[in-house]
Amino acid sequence: MARLRQLIAGNWKMNGLRKSLDELRAIKAGIADARCDVAICPPATLLAEAAWTLNDGNLLFGGQDCAIDASGAHTGDISAEMVADAGGKLVIVGHSERRTDHGETDALVRAKAEAAWRAGLLAILCIGETKAQRESDQTLDVLEQQLWGSVPDKADAANLVIAYEPVWAIGTGLTASSDDIIAAHAHIRARLTNRFGPEAAGIRIQYGGSVKPGNAREILALPNVDGALVGGASLKAADFLGIIAGTP
Ligand code: PGA
Repeated sequence: MARLRQLIAGNWKMNGLRKSLDELRAIKAGIADARCDVAICPPATLLAEAAWTLNDGNLLFGGQDCAIDASGAHTGDISAEMVADAGGKLVIVGHSERRTDHGETDALVRAKAEAAWRAGLLAILCIGETKAQRESDQTLDVLEQQLWGSVPDKADAANLVIAYEPVWAIGTGLTASSDDIIAAHAHIRARLTNRFGPEAAGIRIQYGGSVKPGNAREILALPNVDGALVGGASLKAADFLGIIAGTP
């Protein structure tokens, strides 16, 4: 089967001040001929300015999280509608840091993905095993449970991207081996196909966890890898562009 058009997405996490918009300008300037879709999820404080000044066909912006309600008395939360109103086209849901720091459950992540769709956003939904789960050989079971629990029923190729991010590989400099990535992504594809039929062939599956210019080319060439979710290496345009250059 022909490869899907890859999505390379940067997750800036709690990093970035207004002066960081220069990095976004450099990223935009560097992707005119990119073979992939490119997105950056800056902190919420920068989203509107980034999206209003830099959004175009080549570079998309998104949120790092969304609330489940459209509006209301939820101090500190940001709704999917607000992300869309700020110019966002996508939102990350279920990142392991949200699952850990904020106790987000599969059920909540599922509701957040539905909120994203209600607002017309693409949801990048993150799943991944911890070090202890990998060491006790539970990886594929954990991925299956997370997929079952957090992916809503109306998923399709246009509204969902799955990001496979082994928790132990995030921000650690460790990456999963090619064989482990191949096995995890094949498993995710098979489970999605069981549930969504032929539509699942078009749902992109990103790898995330210490993706860098030096390992991107190898990872992005693996079967069923349809892009990357990049944390640390998305903060500097040169690094992020180096990853984008590795798309097949
Ligand atoms: P990292 O983060 O690239 O810094 O490992 C990835 C992520 O958390 O999405």
